[in-house]
Amino acid sequence: MTLLVTGGAGFIGSNFVLDWLARSDEPVVNLDLLTYAGNLRNLGPLQGDARHVFVQGDICDRALVDRLLAEHRPRALVHFAAESHVDRSILGPGAFVRTNVEGTFTLLEGARTHWSALAEAERAAFRFLHVSTDEVYGSLAPDAPAFTEAHPYEPSSPYSASKAASDHLVRAWHHTYGLPVLTTNCSNNYGPYQFPEKLIPLVIANALAGQPLPVYGDGMQVRDWLYVGDHCSAIRAVLARGGAGQTYNIGGWNEQPNIEIVHTICALLDELRPRAEGPHARLVTHVSDRPGHDRRYAIDARKIERELGWRPAETFASGIRRTVQWYLEHAGWVAEVQSGSYRDWVAANYEQRR
Ligand code: NAD
Ligand code: DAU
Repeated sequence: MTLLVTGGAGFIGSNFVLDWLARSDEPVVNLDLLTYAGNLRNLGPLQGDARHVFVQGDICDRALVDRLLAEHRPRALVHFAAESHVDRSILGPGAFVRTNVEGTFTLLEGARTHWSALAEAERAAFRFLHVSTDEVYGSLAPDAPAFTEAHPYEPSSPYSASKAASDHLVRAWHHTYGLPVLTTNCSNNYGPYQFPEKLIPLVIANALAGQPLPVYGDGMQVRDWLYVGDHCSAIRAVLARGGAGQTYNIGGWNEQPNIEIVHTICALLDELRPRAEGPHARLVTHVSDRPGHDRRYAIDARKIERELGWRPAETFASGIRRTVQWYLEHAGWVAEVQSGSYRDWVAANYEQRR
């Protein structure tokens, strides 16, 4: 019994691999290209652990995918690898189409060939779990009901359009070939090991450095925040008990406007690491908005609760406190990922917003 995980050196993937191996002895083969977002330091606790096999490589490399499937004969493939940052997709969409669309296609074809040759019992048990996002559903009006699994696809950024395309491929491979797929569409995650290009870790890192906290537009865009450990437990539940061909929305029942998230982080830092110059909230700076910025996302997570018995364990108050504490205790990790190309990214994304 083995899992093949893609993107397991990124934020959610590394949390998933660490959680998985803390609870099970089932080995994990971890295929990750180590782009700017992948970091082997996230997997430091697994050094020397024979249950974890790390392979640096590209999900678009069909020969490599075929070799890994033939060599390790995984009972499931859990697919996290992606280009994941909306602002980067606006400045450079090509990599998103390549990894998110072509990469998912390559994995589906590799998995289909592997699965077709399995004995009947193994074929029935095999799963291709595709990790996707709530952004495929587009933006909600303030009073509209939250996204259910039946909500139409209306992606608005190059990132969400590329994820929507990958979801459609996954659905088609089930419908046409019978590949036993599972799709999860999750809301915004936060927690340890998140790259500080995303709102929560960026605000924590900038606040600790006494730098401006950039809030796009009026800061009233709403997201539904979920602690990453809860996302991992949801994926475990879907993998164990989800029905082949089914889609599950995953969310935190925790809608909040960005500006409130930023003020919560500032208040926590005022308590845990007070600033001689005054409250952290003084660093809040409104900057020009993200082009095509989705106004609101909200997940209706009743299906996964009803059918698989999953609900988030963490409240936002407990999860954000744990997260801020983690960043305070891992200043070395932050400093390392902020060196090199990170500075070029900050210049490219924020200089134009002044
Ligand atoms: P991330 O950017 O932190 O990590 C992505 C990982 O994929 C990195 O380790 C990177 O090296 C790897 N990767 C990128 N291109 C690759 C390629 N061509 N071949 C192999 N590996 C490659 O992303 P994340 O935030 O951990 O998101 C993981 C998945 O979850 C993505 O599919 C994303 O769309 C989805 N998702 C993320 C969130 C969120 O809030 N972060 C919410 C819902 C869904
Ligand atoms: O909803 C799930 C999605 O959540 C995932 O699919 C994506 O991979 C993930 O990146 C995330 O997308 P968002 O665009 O919502 O996340 P981000 O952290 O980039 O931004 C959150 C909100 O904060 C969004 O409304 C934009 C805003 N923002 C972001 C940054 C980086 C700011 O106001 N200032 C910033 O500097």
